[in-house]
Order: sequence, then C-alpha cells, then structure tokens
Amino acid sequence: MKQIEVGKSGIKASNIVLGCMRLKGKTPQEAEKIIRTALEEGINYFDHADVYGSPGRRGECEEIFSKAIGLNNPAVRESMFIQSKCGIVKSETGSYDFSKEHILSAVDGILKRLDTDYLDFLLLHRPDSLMEPEEVAEAFEKLYTEGKVRHFGVSNQNPMQVELLQKYIPYKLEVNQLQLSIAHCPMIDSGISVNMGADQSVNREGSVLEYSRLKDMTIQAWSPFQKGFFGGPFLGDMEQYGELNKTIDRIAKKYEVTNTAIAVAWITRHPANIQVILGTTNPQRIKDACRGSDILLTRDEWYEIYQSSGKILP
Ligand SMILES: NC(=O)c1ccc[n+]([C@@H]2O[C@H](COP(=O)([O-])OP(=O)(O)OC[C@H]3O[C@@H](n4cnc5c(N)ncnc54)[C@H](OP(=O)(O)O)[C@@H]3O)[C@@H](O)[C@H]2O)c1
Repeated sequence: MKQIEVGKSGIKASNIVLGCMRLKGKTPQEAEKIIRTALEEGINYFDHADVYGSPGRRGECEEIFSKAIGLNNPAVRESMFIQSKCGIVKSETGSYDFSKEHILSAVDGILKRLDTDYLDFLLLHRPDSLMEPEEVAEAFEKLYTEGKVRHFGVSNQNPMQVELLQKYIPYKLEVNQLQLSIAHCPMIDSGISVNMGADQSVNREGSVLEYSRLKDMTIQAWSPFQKGFFGGPFLGDMEQYGELNKTIDRIAKKYEVTNTAIAVAWITRHPANIQVILGTTNPQRIKDACRGSDILLTRDEWYEIYQSSGKILP
C-alpha cells in the first residue's frame, strides 16, 4: 500500500481511504468485517461526516464504526487516522452552517459518537455561502488549542474559497475532498483541453487540481466508482461506458487485477498524490481496490482509459 504525506501535515497515510458513509444500517459484525478488511489491506485512514446515517439518525455511521472496532481502546485509536466533516445541517429544507457555534457543537457530537478525544483531520463539508471566515478561524483555534482537532481541511471548495478561508485561519488547510472518478473528472478535463471550444474545456472548478498541487493540499477523491452524483458505478455499465469498460478490462488482465483496481490506479497514477476514498462495503471489493494503490499505469494506458471514457485529447 502506497503511503503519501497528507498535505504538509507530516502525517504519512495510505493513499486509499475507507469512506464510512455507507456503513449505515450495517450490523456490528458486518461493520467490523469491512473495517478489519481495510486495516488488513493496509488502509489506515477513515473518512466520516456528522451527517452520514439513515434518515433521522444523523451520525449513525460514526457510532457504528466506533463500536465495531472498539475505538475507545487507545491502541486501536492510535493505529489509524480518523477524519470527519461538518457544516451540512440536516433540517427539513437542508442548509449549511460554518458558524463558530455550529462547528464547535458539531465536533463535540462527532467526538462523542466516535468515542474518542481527538480527530486527526476535520473538514468543512460543503461551502456555506453565508460563512464569516473570522468565525471559522475562532472555532478552529479553540478546537486545536483544546486538542480536539489536529489538522484541518475542506471539501468541495474551489481555490478562491480556500484562499478566503486560509487568509484568516492560522493553520494550513491540508485537504480538499472532491468528487473524482474516470467518469467524473472535470478538474482533469479542463486542464487537458485548455483553450478549446469543447464542453470539457469549461473550467468550473477554478483549476483546483493545479492549485492543490501548488499549495501542497491533498485531494481526496470521493465516489471513485460512480458515474455522476451517486449515478451508480460505471464499472460493468456496458451501455453507457462500453468502450471504457473494454479498455479497463484489457489493462486489468495485463496487471492481473480486477477492473476495480484499475479504476483506483487511474486516480492514484496522477502525480498529485491523490487519496482515493472507497465507498464500497463489500470486503472483496475493498481487497480488489487496494491492488490498485501502487500500480503505475503507463502514460499510454492512462490516456487511453481517459479517451475511452468519451473524452477528447485535442
Ligand atoms: N465530501 C463529499 O461531499 C462526499 C460525498 C460523497 C461521498 N463522500 C465520501 O466518499 C466515500 C465514497 O463515496 P461513494 O460511496 O459514493 O463511492 P464509490 O466507492 O464510488 O461507490 C460505492 C458504491 O458503489 C457500489 N459499487 C462500487 N463498485 C461497484 C461495482 N463494480 N459494481 C456494483 N456496485 C459497485 C458499492 O456497492 P458495494 O457496497 O456493494 O460494493 C457502493 O454502493 C463515502 O463513503 C464518503 O466517505 C464524500
């Protein structure tokens, strides 16, 4: 399992992360099997959010995780890096809240459900347009000083949003968690087709890939197997992604791995040292995905996979 430094935090972690959003509804035995498989494969980084859970059971996934693995045991806790996210408010209408009061109470809730004293990383989940960056800074300073959070980051933010926050926050923002898969990679598309008239040239993310590399922020790729926003996996979808699947299957054969491993390797091959956040709850798929961690696809293979997803190389 390849290790990368997360941002400039000094923390070396696996380049594959287990995402815990889909642990909802799992029994303790099922959850334990999923987590133990991940650990055995070399995954030492786990992604949570305070909103992950069944309807009406906010934080359910954090609780399931903690109980399944016995996170209140210091030896277990210290063997892994735990990250959670806050800022999405699940009300009837739904909204975002980066106020100091909300961030502080959200973290207290996360720590209680996880049954731990600290988070290795706290991310702001989705941009809050009403954010006062000074308030976020006050919240982060309190959390850091009290030892509740060791490192900070964001999710789904563009470079100017990061810049705005970073102007006020005295700690480096180490992570930006963004949607990224072969089938959904606008941050790569716009860089490849700069200056062209194609749809894929539209730069909607403000060059977040290049910005993250410039600023030593680790990109974490969420939904690595999904077509769109929870549109279902592209692997095996011969109707919409026939060419892509044929190419992936051929390359998988060459490396003697599954298509899952190649979908991971396409992301980890990028020199930006991206972390892939797996959402699968199938232990065999976790094992298959981990085989992709340190496969170094050739340039030709990487670009061939890209093109067979329907994208153009100008
Ligand atoms: N920051 C954000 O805004 C944000 C948003 C969404 C998610 N996340 C994080 O990212 C993690 C991953 O997201 P995700 O769960 O959407 O990612 P994903 O790994 O792309 O999708 C996992 C889902 O796809 C299914 N799947 C994967 N490969 C498959 C295949 N070959 N055939 C059939 N089904 C397949 C899995 O089913 P099985 O379980 O049966 O394998 C599971 O339901 C989450 O756990 C969460 O931690 C963050």
